[in-house]
Amino acid sequence: MNPVNLRDFETVAKDKLDPVLYDYFAGGAQDEITVRANEAAFRRLSLVPRILRGAGPPRLDLTLFGQPSAMPVLLAPTAFHRLAWDEGEVATARAARDADVVMIAAMLSTVTVEEIAATGAKLWFQLYLQPDLAFTESLVRRAAAAGCRALVVTADSPALGRNERGDRNGFHDLPPGIVCANMGGNGSVRQVELSPALSWRHLDWLREITDLPVLVKGVLHPADAVLAVEHGAAGVIVSNHGGRQLDTAPAAVDRLPLIAEAVRGRVPVLLDGGVRRGTDVLKALALGATAVAVGRPVLWGLAASGSEGVARVLSLLRTELANALTLCGAATPAALTRDQVTP
Ligand code: FNR
Repeated sequence: MNPVNLRDFETVAKDKLDPVLYDYFAGGAQDEITVRANEAAFRRLSLVPRILRGAGPPRLDLTLFGQPSAMPVLLAPTAFHRLAWDEGEVATARAARDADVVMIAAMLSTVTVEEIAATGAKLWFQLYLQPDLAFTESLVRRAAAAGCRALVVTADSPALGRNERGDRNGFHDLPPGIVCANMGGNGSVRQVELSPALSWRHLDWLREITDLPVLVKGVLHPADAVLAVEHGAAGVIVSNHGGRQLDTAPAAVDRLPLIAEAVRGRVPVLLDGGVRRGTDVLKALALGATAVAVGRPVLWGLAASGSEGVARVLSLLRTELANALTLCGAATPAALTRDQVTP
């Protein structure tokens, strides 16, 4: 099949991948209510076009924390790319570089952040704050030295969500030869620790040890968005981790208006979860997001054909976004208005 949209890429990837690995990428927590809710919420929103505005050709580029990006779409941090494609995150990063968009490199990548950075891609680094603060600090230093321009603290994971597909498939460990490459050194690879003891104090600590902008990922409550801003976050990412953590958490896009209102423009608000179409991107932007991130579609492109597949996923999304923007009567995302999205 010649995939003509992001959902086609999932079909191609599903055909190619070992079903156990497909389940790992596609799945979510428990009944996967939140996984489905993310996409369903976008489907329930309508875009209202404005007409005869003489908007001219679409312009999608923007600057995020001083970094230019060709469009308001980032690659969400996802773990274990070598499960999808042998070159792993290096292949993903080449596509991000060629598309001139930011890749949020996952702490749990299967090649090192230095190897990812060597592609020349624009990177941010996603961090699970580790209770071993000395180790966390060493990771932050490595990411900064490798050229990552922002840190994304994943705050929705005080414990691992319960993934029943993995339980059913007995998939609990990486296969031999694939490791969490950033967690190593001296031949031994440490396990990631998800800790319910983490608090805003750890965010304060992080801000003291680094000058990099720190974004908080996994915000669903407006009070937490306000706290993030008060604790110096440079941005918040509205996200339910693609439905992989707390099942029955609300759809990300349904929480976006509340959070944008609470943040009041003080810092950029980003969103991920369920973005599959240019129209989805547009809806999020009209509801107050500065940019969105995509998770699974990138993995589907990677599994389908490595760098080339990811490049195609990004270019499809870009073409769709430009088309949708023009059809809405706007030249730039900023020219869209909130009243152009309706339930
Ligand atoms: C993720 N996500 C994720 N998030 C994070 O902060 N650190 C991580 O290591 C991972 N790993 C991961 C693996 C896989 C296989 C998936 C699908 C997702 C969550 C990710 O950043 C993002 O929030 C969601 O993927 C967004 O939803 P969509 O675009 O997949 O619907």
